Amino acid sequence: MSRIVEGLGADPGSTESLWKVALGQEPPDTVVSNARVFDAVSGDFVAERSLWIKDGRIARVAPSAETPAPGGVEIDVGGLTLVPGLIDGHTHAVRLFVPEFVRALLPTGVTGAVIETMEYGATEGMAGIRLFVDALRDQPLRLYYTAPALCGLTQEEEPAPLTPDELEELLADPMCLGLGEVYWSNALLPGAQGRRVRAMMAQTLAAGKVVEGHTAGAKGARLDAYVGLGVSSCHEPVSVDEALEVYSRGLFVMLRHGSIRRDLETLRPLFDLPLDFRRFALVTDSVDPVEMASWGYLDQVVREALALDIPPHVVYRMAGTNVAEHFRLEGTVGHLAPGRWADLVAIPSPGEFEPVFVMVGGTTVAERARVRVAARPVVVPKSLLTTVRVDAARALESAGPPPALPASGRVRVIEYVTNLVTRETLLTASEATEEDLMPVLAIERTRGERSFWGLLKGLGLSEGAYATTVTWDSPDLVVVGRDHRSALTALGRVVELGGGGVYAVGEEVVAEVASPVCGIASLEPAERVRADLSALVAALCGAGVAWEDPLLAIDTLTTPAIPHLRISHRGYVRLRDRALLPLEVEEG
Ligand SMILES: [Fe+2]
Repeated sequence: MSRIVEGLGADPGSTESLWKVALGQEPPDTVVSNARVFDAVSGDFVAERSLWIKDGRIARVAPSAETPAPGGVEIDVGGLTLVPGLIDGHTHAVRLFVPEFVRALLPTGVTGAVIETMEYGATEGMAGIRLFVDALRDQPLRLYYTAPALCGLTQEEEPAPLTPDELEELLADPMCLGLGEVYWSNALLPGAQGRRVRAMMAQTLAAGKVVEGHTAGAKGARLDAYVGLGVSSCHEPVSVDEALEVYSRGLFVMLRHGSIRRDLETLRPLFDLPLDFRRFALVTDSVDPVEMASWGYLDQVVREALALDIPPHVVYRMAGTNVAEHFRLEGTVGHLAPGRWADLVAIPSPGEFEPVFVMVGGTTVAERARVRVAARPVVVPKSLLTTVRVDAARALESAGPPPALPASGRVRVIEYVTNLVTRETLLTASEATEEDLMPVLAIERTRGERSFWGLLKGLGLSEGAYATTVTWDSPDLVVVGRDHRSALTALGRVVELGGGGVYAVGEEVVAEVASPVCGIASLEPAERVRADLSALVAALCGAGVAWEDPLLAIDTLTTPAIPHLRISHRGYVRLRDRALLPLEVEEG
């Protein structure tokens, strides 16, 4: 494997010094002495150990009484426990651009992450993906990624699907560990998109890499058909039964606990069963920038797992070792043993995950919550800061007025069941009032020419309009709002910002978050993004939005990942049969 993190250690191929250090013939660079070291294989926390580190890697885990060849720097940790650095096996980096994402993660004890890339490919294809994956390189964390399947609602919602050559280019990159979450319903589609997605899966498997799964809603024969395509993991189980269903089919089970859902407590009874917990991982599936500060990241997942009395040796394996093995990184990370990178966290004891210091490749990257290294800055080309190619006034004019309840007949409505799950509801004028329903407009955002008005039930926004480009899996931007003036202000401002989310009432912009990088990430420091996001959420909740996270409730209206009725610029899409549906219900 080639060098992953520039400046954080030599290529693992250069073993000449390492074995000489182990034999005491050459001095290590660093000795971390007087530690209790977690042995991820035996599950023991072994006292009185020293790590001899050379060129960023572990040469020896020795009894503390033994001394290496003199010359290295000694760090006596006075009995602290050392565990492998945490590795998030499934996450997304949106809203914060990569350097700020790295800066936020450094003090948490996360030393590696496997990041999805679909957000950067949804409108810009390979140009966006190349920007993102190049930004992940040479950072002071080991950042890996998966190639995006770019599963749209319909074939037409994938303006930039990868060609086989483009996928091959990504799969040839050692940082690319496989194909990112492939939604089961897309993989089993009978038409062109299904064929394309299945071909990507086959190409990934032929390249010796993993295909990451997404089985939400699949059971029985459909689950078998999907697993049979070569899927190797799932991060979607939200109940013990669902977790056991994918576990028993041989999938690596990722237990999700982050901003999208927090399922650890519900899934806790799994740990009372006689299962092979090397087949499980703890993942975040993303944490939003505000919660990164107020709640934490994978470090908090580890703390909650420990508080739920999951044994520490199981927790640290699930938050690092098992992830490394699943992604075929064993031998390089996930275990404090000779030959592996010295990626580790020093904590007071196995049951207290409060990082005293964090090392990546033998370099201390954070110490007592203070970041000690700088993330590598990334220059974003102008073309990827101007991806919202919409004329607000013209787009709204060509969309026409927002729909209202018809005097006769029924209309089709997206009704919220939870903040994420929706259903298809058919309503007559007598079954709802205008106040119950909120117009929602999907506009194809690379050209702005095509759009579709739908209706939402259960959002609760009482005034103004909200426009967002941070829509999931989609090249569309979405505007929710009743009055034209507010919609024009919100849409106009979001275009001006190059993307993000804007809430406006009349001619006034009430709150906004700029996300000009491919329309999904900010160039601002994390602190500014957090402040803007908090103000935006407060404004929308203050205007009556019923959901705790109004941004998530709106941004997910475009995704095929969550049932049941979604929206695109071509119409509603019913996920069960991928039917493209109009607002008016054809009777009879
Ligand atoms: Fe995900």
